[in-house]
This record gives sequence, C-alpha cells and structure tokens, in this order.
Amino acid sequence: MQNLYIKTYGCQMNEYDSERMADVLAVSHGLHLVDDPVLADVLLLNTCSIREKAADKVFTQLGFWRSFKERRPELVIGVGGCVASQEGERLRRRAPYVDLVFGPQTLHRLPDLLDACLAERRPQVDVAFPMLEKFDHLPQRPGRDGATAFVTIQEGCDKFCTFCVVPHTRGREYSRPMPDILRETRTLVDQGVREITLLGQNVNAYRGATGLVGEGGLADLLARLARIPGLLRLRYTTSHPSNLDDELIAAHANIEILAPHLHLPVQSGSDRILRRMHRKHTVEQYLDKIERLRVARPGIQISSDFIVGFPGETDADFAATMELIDAVRFDQSFSFKYSQRPNTPALKLKDSVPEAVKDARLAVLQGRINGLAQGYAQALVGTRQAVLMTGPSRRDPQQLTGKTACNRSVNMAGSMDWVGQMLDVEITAALPNSLRGRVVHAAPASQRLAV
Ligand code: SAH
Ligand code: SF4
Ligand code: F3S
Repeated sequence: MQNLYIKTYGCQMNEYDSERMADVLAVSHGLHLVDDPVLADVLLLNTCSIREKAADKVFTQLGFWRSFKERRPELVIGVGGCVASQEGERLRRRAPYVDLVFGPQTLHRLPDLLDACLAERRPQVDVAFPMLEKFDHLPQRPGRDGATAFVTIQEGCDKFCTFCVVPHTRGREYSRPMPDILRETRTLVDQGVREITLLGQNVNAYRGATGLVGEGGLADLLARLARIPGLLRLRYTTSHPSNLDDELIAAHANIEILAPHLHLPVQSGSDRILRRMHRKHTVEQYLDKIERLRVARPGIQISSDFIVGFPGETDADFAATMELIDAVRFDQSFSFKYSQRPNTPALKLKDSVPEAVKDARLAVLQGRINGLAQGYAQALVGTRQAVLMTGPSRRDPQQLTGKTACNRSVNMAGSMDWVGQMLDVEITAALPNSLRGRVVHAAPASQRLAV
C-alpha cells in the first residue's frame, strides 16, 4: 500500500478534516497523497449530508469506485464525513463493497481501522462521537506550501435549527483549548501561511480553555492569534447571529488583521419563518447587530446563507427576505432550496412549497444578490486594496492570483516570489467571478476597504 486518494464534498470543515486524514495516514502507514484515483491503493470519500443532492452524490461516486474494486479487489474504500455519521452500518447495506466507515469525530482512528480491516479481512465501522479525542490524537501538521490555511477551532452544533442535519451528524458543541489552536497556528505561520480561517459549524459559539484559569470566547482567541508575528490576516466562519456578542463586535474594531468581512447566515427575512426554523433571532435583532458591526468597522462586507421554500413560506415571507436583502445589501452569498433531511424536526411540517415556486424564488433571490455583489466588485475598480498573494492563477499560470480582504480573487502580472506577501494592488477591472489588478508597489498594505 502506497497511495491515498481523498475526494471531499461539503463544507470547509470537511476540507480541513480531509487534510488531517492524509496527515494521520502518512504518519501511520506512509501513505502518499495522489491526485488521480486510478493510482490509489486507498480511496477515501469525505461526505456531506446537508441537502439531499449532496447525499445522493455519495452513492453515485461510490458506484463508480466499485468498478475499480472489481478490477483490483485489494483496493480499500473508506467513507467518512456526515453521510457516514448519519448512516453508519446502513451505508454498507447500500454499498457492501465499502471497507471503512468513519465519522467526523473518529477520523483519527483511521490507522487502527485500516489495520483491523487488513488483518481481519472484514469491514470496519466506527461513527461514534468521542468529542474530546480527535484533536489530541492528530499529528503535528506537516510542511505545506500555500499562503492560506484553515484551522478548526470548534466542532458540532447545539442549535438544532429545525431544517438542519448538522447537530445529528457532527454531534454536540466542543471547543478546542486555546493553547492547541495557538500552537497549530504558529506551526502554520512558520511554514509560510499568512492568512488563517478559523472554522466551526458555530464558530462564534467558541468557548475554550485559556490554558491558565478559566475559558475565553472567540474575541479573546482572535486577540491572542493576532499577536503571532508573521500572521497577516484572520477570518472565521460560520457564525450564528445569536452568538455575535458585543465583545466580538469590538474585536472587529480593535483587531487590525481581522478581515473586514463577515459571513453571518440569516436564512430568512421573515420572523414567522425564523421562528419555525428555530433560529433564535429576529430580523430586527439581526439588523441591529449589522448596524453595530458597521459602526465598529466601517466598510465591513456582510454575506449570508438563505433557504427559500421552507415549509409554509408564503409570498409575503419571501418578500420580507428580499426586503432584508435590500436593507443589508449583502455581498456574495449562498442560497438553497429547502431540502428535507433525515431526523430533523422540520420533517413534521408539510413541505408545502411547490418545486416550481422554490425555483422561481431562488432565481429572484440569486439575481438580486449577484447584482449587489457585482456592484461591490465594480466599486472596487480604481481603488487600492491589500491583496495577499496566494499563487499562480488557475486559468493562466503565468499570472499571479491573490485575495482581497473581502475574499475576492484578483489576477495580475507579477512574480511568484511574491507569494505570501500582502501587497498594494490597484483594481483595474471587475469580471463576473474575479477582479483584475496591478501591483502598485511591493510594500505591505493596510486592510481597510476603500468602498
Ligand atoms: N452553521 C451554519 C450553517 C451550516 S449549513 C449556520 O448556522 O449558519 C450551511 C447552510 O446550508 C445553512 O446556512 C443553510 O442555509 C443550508 N442548509 C442547511 N440545511 C438545509 C436544508 N435542509 N435545506 C436547504 N438548505 C440547508
Ligand atoms: Fe445547522 Fe442551525 Fe447548527 Fe447552523 S446553527 S449548523 S444551521 S443547526
Ligand atoms: Fe455537510 Fe457535514 Fe459540513 S453536512 S456542510 S459536511 S458539517
């Protein structure tokens, strides 16, 4: 066994977990990550269950890998992530050729599962929730190239929104102790990482041990991370509006390297629907927090997630969502048609909105958000932005790509030696999915948005 291939669906937390699966199997079995599944001896699928379509993709992909295994019976196929957690043993009933089933909280046990599978010549399933274990059993992060990285600081969710499968697949809330997070971040910065995105399904519910006495919240953690020399930019995602407290709002005013961009999912602009979703916040409370954020950090960009067609959503409820969009003027956001998920309370509500109505609402909402996002991009043309150089452009490897504070890609002419530096860039054009720019001079720039 030499080569490992991992395919990842779902959120950034899954991306982080996939990296850690590769780390742990490199140490235990000397497995080398390859980017062609045909070359692999171990194939892992890290899955997502957030919507029906995401979960369906899993079985299509596994069906495809089954044909590999028919040709090479010694091939090991493993399934991790949220579908694995949700289905457990049942997954093997639908896909009996799968050898390993593990959950987001048991990925550190992969080496043992793999050994047991090879020794006993039978499949292994472990989708338990030993919350306190995972992070204590993962190796130090190995050398990596790249100017940006994710660090998971919080797992699970206790909010139980009525539509959402996450509390059932990732378990209850757990926060990593601050010293662990600081250590991991310092290692990454030593390796050349300049921008860190802190991850959690409910990242602003973070409450972790400080290492001395007591616990601290996300604002406290951000302040400590901001003191790491060499770290140029911090972000965190995804936040819940009810956990955005005064301390965190103040952090946006006081911590210079905290990007002036916040993803704060609202889901709906109707209080009636928010109640049925069990979101624990009203439209007014949401607007009040946005207003205070904008006072604390002028120019901060706000993005969101939206669900259209939640059971019982009327034309008036949808109109309220569109009104909220106009009031907040959201930047690039995600929006989805409501999808029924196993074990969620919303299953008891009748999925009453016809598919065609969901489609129509989604199109209207996305049209409006795209218009706003394009407006923000246009407003950047002619301004100077602090851009972190991340590597060659995917489309044209002769070009350099970087990221603005508001999380937009900028392509420009430049030297690959600049990767990892934050430079002053004049934005020269706004294309539908990216910006074009020109490096003004190779001196580190301020992060403040000039919109
Ligand atoms: N913890 C984050 C979101 C996690 S899931 C939060 O609370 O905002 C990412 C997004 O998927 C959600 O914000 C929601 O918009 C969407 N989503 C979750 N469950 C869904 C469902 N059953 N149908 C449609 N969209 C869903
Ligand atoms: Fe799901 Fe709600 Fe938890 Fe977000 S806060 S992960 S939407 S239950
Ligand atoms: Fe999907 Fe699980 Fe992330 S359901 S969105 S992979 S937490």
